[in-house]
Amino acid sequence: MERTYIMVKPDGVRRGLTGEIINRIERKGFKIVAMKKMVISRETAETHYGEHKGKPFFDGLVNFITSGPVVAMVVEGPQAISEMRRLMGATRPWEAAPGTIRADFATTVDENIIHGSDGPESAAREIGIFFKPEEIIG
Ligand code: TYD
Ligand code: MG
Repeated sequence: MERTYIMVKPDGVRRGLTGEIINRIERKGFKIVAMKKMVISRETAETHYGEHKGKPFFDGLVNFITSGPVVAMVVEGPQAISEMRRLMGATRPWEAAPGTIRADFATTVDENIIHGSDGPESAAREIGIFFKPEEIIG
């Protein structure tokens, strides 16, 4: 069993795609063991995306991710980290496989609907940023 941090980004929430994304996660057979709607502070956004600090898209990314509410989740299941990345599709929606969330609902890299952790270390780190242990109900 693995846990991953998944977040419907502000564009996904604004466009009313939260239910669609939850539906895909649950239909797959994964379990949502924690979930909350929240507006991320700049400080938290800069921590979460710390690996991208200094890159040309960093400031735009922080502005975007703090621009409205997100829906944050912890998703649990076998190979949840890589499987959720597969359901999400490639970072650049035009490179994402048909049927993936980013291919089906996004057109630009800067507003690509969903975040998912890219490995076990980032999953543990990101879950810890957004959830207290007692908020995770297995
Ligand atoms: P990254 O971690 O590379 O992608 P992923 O979300 O698939 O793990 O980048 C984080 C986010 O930064 C990405 O979802 C969208 C944004 N981004 C840009 O706006 N422009 C870019 O060129 C890249 C690579 C990412
Ligand atoms: Mg990433």
